[in-house]
Amino acid sequence: MSELSCCVICLVLTSFTFVASVVKSPFFKVACGYKMIGETPLKILTFRNMTPALCAMQCLDDCNSATYSERYQTCTTFRESLYELPWTKDQDWCMVYRNEPIRSAAWTLVFKAQSRINVSFYNMWEMTGYQDDPPSTVDFPVECFRFDKWGSCTRHYRSSVLDNWLGYGQVKVAFLNNGHEVAFMIFSGVSTNRQSWFNQTRVATSWWTSLWNDTSLTNYFTFTGFTSGSNRRRMSIVSANSCHINLMYFMVLDTDYDECSSNWSLPLSSYPVFLYSPMNYQAKLSSQPPEYREADTMVIWVM
Ligand SMILES: *[C@@H]1O[C@H](CO)[C@@H](O)[C@H](O)[C@H]1NC(C)=O
Ligand SMILES: *[C@@H]1O[C@H](CO)[C@@H](O)[C@H](O)[C@H]1NC(C)=O
Ligand SMILES: *[C@@H]1O[C@H](CO)[C@@H](O)[C@H](O)[C@H]1NC(C)=O
Ligand SMILES: *[C@@H]1O[C@H](CO)[C@@H](O)[C@H](O)[C@H]1NC(C)=O
Repeated sequence: MSELSCCVICLVLTSFTFVASVVKSPFFKVACGYKMIGETPLKILTFRNMTPALCAMQCLDDCNSATYSERYQTCTTFRESLYELPWTKDQDWCMVYRNEPIRSAAWTLVFKAQSRINVSFYNMWEMTGYQDDPPSTVDFPVECFRFDKWGSCTRHYRSSVLDNWLGYGQVKVAFLNNGHEVAFMIFSGVSTNRQSWFNQTRVATSWWTSLWNDTSLTNYFTFTGFTSGSNRRRMSIVSANSCHINLMYFMVLDTDYDECSSNWSLPLSSYPVFLYSPMNYQAKLSSQPPEYREADTMVIWVM
């Protein structure tokens, strides 16, 4: 063995001990069976003995994720986060990602709710202590980091922010369809708790400009929503309480029962259901889509 190759082996061994401690540390997580596809990688590196630790060590300050293959001895690092890039299923590849709260620009994700998975969004929102983000050790499914339908996530995401609500400057609620924002509202969250920000007087910006001055909503605009009997119309922004004329901007049906469902055109066999008006006025639930529409995901952010 030449002196040079000995030297290389020693270096690799030394750096391996160091990188192993990097991956044992809480900074990165690994998910295998997926490959990330980014058009502008930061670095593409080749290592004969690829390990998750070795790849994670290449992911420095400006890097937020990486994808590596032991088989192809490659590690590719990206500026984007795990949830900002497309993936493919591929048994030869793994992904390395930062063990951090989910962010988008200055927003931090507080909650992500999936439609029709038969798990109450509201009950989980109120489940103090249940947290899917660090420093939790919960093994949150990696598919659920995505905002589009790829990989079909069947779990809600609840952040520790909800257990330490600080009265944020802004709270944003958005509905998504396959990752695309289809409707949103931004509220002032100053001096609020985790429910009270959802109030018409706090609307700062909205996809529906008519929402500010709509005087027909005052009795119904609350986070808890309309819950008489077995009805669970959470966060409902509606203006009539008679089944055949229910008008709404926004509503989360959080159980598979509603006393008006036989008057609505909506199938209510599973929940939660995210409904919105695609127009700048309220939509009638007894009419057919596309007069009202259903979204597949609801996201709530704070900043
Ligand atoms: C939710 O419940 C309905 C009715 O029981 C069922 O048809 C549906 O498959 C369930 N969905 C999931 C994701 O479990
Ligand atoms: C909404 O906020 C206003 C102003 O602070 C308050 O008077 C009202 O009670 C709130 N509405 C609800 C339903 O809590
Ligand atoms: C809402 O009402 C206020 C006060 O009457 C008015 O100045 C404002 O233009 C209205 N906004 C919209 C979007 O109609
Ligand atoms: C609402 O549904 C009930 C029960 O199916 C039915 O008797 C009633 O006629 C419906 N009303 C309208 C306005 O469709």
